[in-house]
Amino acid sequence: MRQSSQISKLTNLRASFLALSLTVLATGFSASVFASDAAPGAPMASPAAAKPVVPGKPKTDLAAGEALYSNGDASRGVVACVGCHGANGKSASATWPKLSAQHAAYTTKQLKNFKDGSRANPVMMGMVASLTDQDMTNISAYLVKQEVSLGVAQNKDTIELGQSIYRGGIAAKGVPACAACHSPTGAGIPAQYPRLGGQWADYSAAQLMAFREGTRKNSAQMTIIATKLSDQEMKAVSDYMAGLR
Ligand code: HEC
Ligand code: HEC
Repeated sequence: MRQSSQISKLTNLRASFLALSLTVLATGFSASVFASDAAPGAPMASPAAAKPVVPGKPKTDLAAGEALYSNGDASRGVVACVGCHGANGKSASATWPKLSAQHAAYTTKQLKNFKDGSRANPVMMGMVASLTDQDMTNISAYLVKQEVSLGVAQNKDTIELGQSIYRGGIAAKGVPACAACHSPTGAGIPAQYPRLGGQWADYSAAQLMAFREGTRKNSAQMTIIATKLSDQEMKAVSDYMAGLR
């Protein structure tokens, strides 16, 4: 008796699952029919308009991102990013980090973290104050498409130490290899692990110090790692990373 009622429950479940799959199939099908119907009727529309909209995922607008990056928007008090971060995100000095080719999800997260204060930097907190989530998505989508900006290591005396930390960590202190998360070439691993290769050494070292001192508290993983590094180790690994490609 119990067995047969369980079996009928199972059959019911299976039936509703089947019905659900059919509905999904049917809506997917009709959506694709609509999309292809719409395309010839709207020859002037941008190519993005032909793509079906994924619910909950904002559409990204690269051109709007580029415009905001390059010109700002005086009407909303948005300052042009290009003034500090350079044309195409290739900044000219270590005061301002390079942003080109950085993973979009990481860049968007940083902009949100400046806004919510978990990354406390007075300059950037002002810059993001009037950016919307959509602005952040657009700018990040523009930046990841820009060519990576390469650099060179400057300090011959520390390059070996830097390389050994990056590739192998420091076993005695429980420091993991940076390469494990940021990849052997420094290109990072989307979406979580940022690109570090080619970045200005002074900027990277300042970030490691900010993680250690708690002004940047938007990554528990990096705080734990930075707490175990001496100033000299931070500088050595940052200089090595600047030349990484
Ligand atoms: C007045 C100079 C200035 C302007 C203008 C500026 N920034 Fe910045 N930006 C900085 C500085 C300085 C930092 C480093 C902050 C820190 O040390 O945490 C930074 C950091 C960043 C970071 C973090 C990079 C990383 O690798 O984690 C992002 C992303 C960023 N800025 C995006 C923007 C965007 C987008 C705009 C335009 C809306 C902008 N910035 C305008 C000075 C500026
Ligand atoms: C377990 C994974 C992991 C390991 C290992 C790791 N990192 Fe990170 N690192 C991260 C994550 C995640 C972030 C992004 C944090 C955030 O979201 O702001 C990050 C961010 C950074 C940043 C900031 C980049 C920027 O543009 O501001 C630096 C610098 C950095 N890591 C250096 C290192 C160094 C040096 C090592 C090795 C000693 C290392 N990391 C090892 C996960 C890791």
